[in-house]
Amino acid sequence: TLEAAYHCWLQYNKLDSSIEEHYQTYCETLVFLDHSQIIQAAKEELVQGITSMIHPPSVHAVPLEKPSIVLATYENNQLKDYGINTTVLDHLQEDSYLIQTITYKNHHTIAIIGKQDKGVLYGAFHLLRLMQMRENLNELAIIENPSNQIRMINHWDNMDGSIERGYSGDSIFYKDYEFIHDIKRIKDYARLLSSIGINSLSINNVNVHKVETNLITKEMLPSVAEIADIMRCYGITTYLSVNYASTIEIGNLPTADPLDKDVQQWWIEKTKEIYQHIPDFGGFIVKADSEHRPGPFTYNRTHADGANMLAKALEPFGGLVFWRCFVYNCLQDWRDRKTDRARAAYDHFKPLDGEFMDNVILQIKNGPMDFQVREPVSPLFGALQNTNHVLEFQVAQEYTGQQKDLCFLVPQWKEVLDFDTHAKGEGTTIKSIVDGSQFDLTYSGITAVSNIGNDMNWTGNTLAQANFFGYGRLIWNTDLTSEEIANEWVRITFGHDDEVVSTITKMLLHSWEIYENYTAPLGVGWMINPGHHYGPNIEGYEYSLWGTYHFSDCFGTGVNRTIKDGTGYTSQYYPENTSLYDSIETCPDNLLLFFHHVPYRHQLKSGKTVIQHIYDTHFLGVEQVQDMIQKWKQLEQNIDSYRYKNVLDRFNMQLENAIEWRDCINTYFFRHSGIQDEHSRLIY
Ligand code: GCU
Repeated sequence: TLEAAYHCWLQYNKLDSSIEEHYQTYCETLVFLDHSQIIQAAKEELVQGITSMIHPPSVHAVPLEKPSIVLATYENNQLKDYGINTTVLDHLQEDSYLIQTITYKNHHTIAIIGKQDKGVLYGAFHLLRLMQMRENLNELAIIENPSNQIRMINHWDNMDGSIERGYSGDSIFYKDYEFIHDIKRIKDYARLLSSIGINSLSINNVNVHKVETNLITKEMLPSVAEIADIMRCYGITTYLSVNYASTIEIGNLPTADPLDKDVQQWWIEKTKEIYQHIPDFGGFIVKADSEHRPGPFTYNRTHADGANMLAKALEPFGGLVFWRCFVYNCLQDWRDRKTDRARAAYDHFKPLDGEFMDNVILQIKNGPMDFQVREPVSPLFGALQNTNHVLEFQVAQEYTGQQKDLCFLVPQWKEVLDFDTHAKGEGTTIKSIVDGSQFDLTYSGITAVSNIGNDMNWTGNTLAQANFFGYGRLIWNTDLTSEEIANEWVRITFGHDDEVVSTITKMLLHSWEIYENYTAPLGVGWMINPGHHYGPNIEGYEYSLWGTYHFSDCFGTGVNRTIKDGTGYTSQYYPENTSLYDSIETCPDNLLLFFHHVPYRHQLKSGKTVIQHIYDTHFLGVEQVQDMIQKWKQLEQNIDSYRYKNVLDRFNMQLENAIEWRDCINTYFFRHSGIQDEHSRLIY
């Protein structure tokens, strides 16, 4: 139904009577020993969830001698009566919490204890999730401590209502250059975010256009504050993307030179003004000197100069600057084989390591290029040791099927997080760097580009809700497996029917590989339509200025990034990875064409030649999509018609897309190599 689509994983469907009985004792009574806006949100959520799954609970503010769910922050004195030992929370993060089944005055009781009120809210969502998962509640002994301190989502929403790289309708915040003020929708969004542990949100596009530059003016700040007020109740801090050249655009100054006193003073005043409207404002996201955005380079200043100037203004209020490292030459000459876009982030930012103020956080995309289906991990991770930084993922499927094609990205993100940089010897994984522990960072964590819009189901393709959910769950606990996350999402979203659960879970888990099969081969990336980035266009970027080439000719294909005779990009890694990638013998097949230019008959570790691999995976990819459609159709009776049809429509678009990719790629490489498919399949 529409309702199920809208509520995503917070549907709280009526429970079967057998489970209901088991839960009933606890759920009749809720006891809240503390009070705050955030605990109020926890209360509303538990009441709503339990009412809808079982029956309305009674709500109290003092301990009662009967079975109940009791919620408190860990310093609450009354907890002593309950005999709960909360000392374990002493050393955990501020968002941590416990959920324990205890006996209180001979009554079975579930205690949800947050280190702070946010933990209480997260614990409430956790318990509701356990109930939706039909878990046994009788012996709970849960300690949750988030892997990452900053768990953020970045919106790329414009005030005209459009969303840059949005595939699920328009913005829920803006329309026609005005705020929409749809409080209910924004609140429901806050609930979804908080239920998966997101604690930071930026609400406008990193490309800050003319009107959006005014978001930090007194005309618009009250409306930003209205959103921040809602988010705050759910433990979420609000941020804005700002235009680096604001002093010129709206400040009546002739310059944006970060060392100019007037510029510095303007930002100090501006920041004060922002905090008058939003006392707990998070800070700024800045895309500077990137894809035609203004930045400190104009004034021959460094990015440290630029970022620190803003950081100084924010410092008195505890605000942060997220400074993006997506800085590269987007006006490259394709004839120039020396310049390598993949090198850019490291080349720009590694030399500045240690020069940023403590409240500057560099924001680094997971790969060196741009959210392709397959990329190596950015070598900046592990290279930056004295600068706070976060990892940036893209939940929006810009290059991975645009929420028409199914592509569950959690397995990709896990590969990134588990990658060993060797920065401090074996085991210096990305997840241990971005959680701040390896280099003792003051601020660290993960952020990502949002995939939601105002479509009824938020994400266009209902199955793309799994990426939104999975992102939050994974960055809260980076040790969760893709299987666990997929299984959990499917059960909460589509119910517990065995066939539904196993079919959709499998689809999700294979979907990334399937998408990769029919698109750009062996890590080379791109080959996509320029501009909108959907569908194949093998040479669409080949003679362009974006630095995204594959150099295919009649002899071979791929980008030579080796030290000896390539761009030297491989040297940006620590020695173990440099030699892994630099040598054609050891380079993993799935990244071969990212690092090497090879002849079409080059033999992969799989035993196949590159050209045969290309043919095989592209035929296979289409068959796999056809297979998913068959399997989806078998679920028709077990899924409500709205969601069934929503997904089926997208699968049909995916099939068309996959066929187009298959035929374009196979034909292109056949014509360039002149080598026949061993199985003589149809190539045009
Ligand atoms: C990609 C994307 C842009 C976006 C940019 C960024 O290039 O296509 O739309 O603005 O990334 O991350 O800044």
